[in-house]
Amino acid sequence: MKDIITVEVKTRKVDFIKCQTELLAVGVFAEDQRLDQLSRQLDGKLDGEISRLFELGDFKGKEGTNAVVYGNGRLAAKRLLLVGLGEKKKATLDTLRKAAAHTANKAITMKVENISLALHKAFGARFDPETAGQVTAEGAFYGSYRYDEYITGDDDGRLARLNVELVDSDSVKTRKLERGLSKGVVIGKAQSYARTLANRPGNVINPPALAEEAKKMAKVTVGLTCTVFDEKQLAEKGMGGVLAVGSGSKTGPRFIVLKYEPADKKAQRLPTIALVGKAITFDSGGISIKPAANMDSMKLDKSGGIAVLATMKAAAQLKLPLNVYGIIPSAENMPGGSSYRPGDIITTFSGKTVEVQNTDAEGRMILCDGLNYAVKQGCDIIIDIATLTGACMVALGRYMAGLMSNDDKLLKQLQKAAEQSGEKVWYMPSGDEYAEEMKSKIADLKNIGSKWGGACTAAAFLRQFVEDKKWAHLDMAGVDVFESDRNSGGTGSTGFGVRLLTTYLLNAAANK
Ligand code: BES
Ligand code: MN
Ligand code: ZN
Repeated sequence: MKDIITVEVKTRKVDFIKCQTELLAVGVFAEDQRLDQLSRQLDGKLDGEISRLFELGDFKGKEGTNAVVYGNGRLAAKRLLLVGLGEKKKATLDTLRKAAAHTANKAITMKVENISLALHKAFGARFDPETAGQVTAEGAFYGSYRYDEYITGDDDGRLARLNVELVDSDSVKTRKLERGLSKGVVIGKAQSYARTLANRPGNVINPPALAEEAKKMAKVTVGLTCTVFDEKQLAEKGMGGVLAVGSGSKTGPRFIVLKYEPADKKAQRLPTIALVGKAITFDSGGISIKPAANMDSMKLDKSGGIAVLATMKAAAQLKLPLNVYGIIPSAENMPGGSSYRPGDIITTFSGKTVEVQNTDAEGRMILCDGLNYAVKQGCDIIIDIATLTGACMVALGRYMAGLMSNDDKLLKQLQKAAEQSGEKVWYMPSGDEYAEEMKSKIADLKNIGSKWGGACTAAAFLRQFVEDKKWAHLDMAGVDVFESDRNSGGTGSTGFGVRLLTTYLLNAAANK
């Protein structure tokens, strides 16, 4: 098995003209036809080559486009990559992150191992250099990611590593860039880790294997501990939801609990945050089996749980002054002689009973136990993340996750984290009307609602297991996977949720 491309990110104080590098990337806004200061300087050294490119209309600075200009010896860089930033008035922090991702992606395609990024320059003083450093590093990881660990044979010179440096001629700036960069590297690495785990297929990652991975990760991460409940312990604790969903599979269910405690004991008085993630290692639908087309994509039904796993790793590495639980119920949803069936009545960990009307609505059956476990651990804030409903994808498409909550402050904090992280969310309802649909005639609840509003009824189901705690739910169905080559060459898992949740925790730690 091949290793995923290693990425290293550093800073360097160097004059842009004198920057010796295989590739120097600079950002260009769509309306910068007259070129900004940096581009003008480079254009001068390149005998007006950039101006000619613009005049011919071969490059217009549109977002997601680039142009390569080859050095002429007067510029120390061998290649100059002009990266389109789109319209200036529409630009956000994510424009910079995406430009870094675009450049890193291009470097991997071109097989250029050492690259220098001056992308932040085009934004002037708009973002502080620390934030710019963070998002540029995140983008470098994101764009260079390839999932190819099972491809044997000729690798066509695929790079083993990518060395990235953020360059600036001002040493005060590089120091600030560096500070943000160290955060961005932790987050970027965690996101790539999440993508690799999510991309691994169901025959490789089943619930016991995921639990082993969580233990292995916790062992090498300072501040993290990991406890795993197997089937026997699940039965003792009465986690009927997780057990029911896992009952049809040869590889039994697991309940993974990661705990992060900061070294600083003062933090013990801080609120405890729980992250709860759905980890169905494969969702066939169970007895209510899914159609065959695209069923393979249901290996990604563990993405929420993996986002939690990777976020826990990042939280510990960032040494956040918070107490955080990562709760990951995991099962494989399979049809078989021992599967749970439509009509079954399950007693969940909370004591509430659920009538199963569709075994394909399994996410909520495992999450309800995870959420209630967080309540019983005394967590003050509970956030769950799951590839929960096709209905959410119908509602929002592939651009943003659904966000439901019972607390306005938490809702706003997550909306802010989404804006900063570039992992978008859209607020959706989950109140009484929807909860009403989830009532059963023969149990406390049933696991499906009517034909309409499936994302909202699913959330209304979950809401009933958090008691009086502050709760938010992220339905990431639709944003878990790249459909085509959208967003910088990615295929497979997007790693959605790692940046969003880590940003939320970073803000919470800074009391923002
Ligand atoms: N894992 C699926 C949801 C999903 C669908 C995620 C498509 C990503 C892409 C979930 O377990 C599921 O099957 N949900 C059902 C619920 C229904 C039976 C109430 C759905 O959305 O059809
Ligand atoms: Mn399902
Ligand atoms: Zn599912």
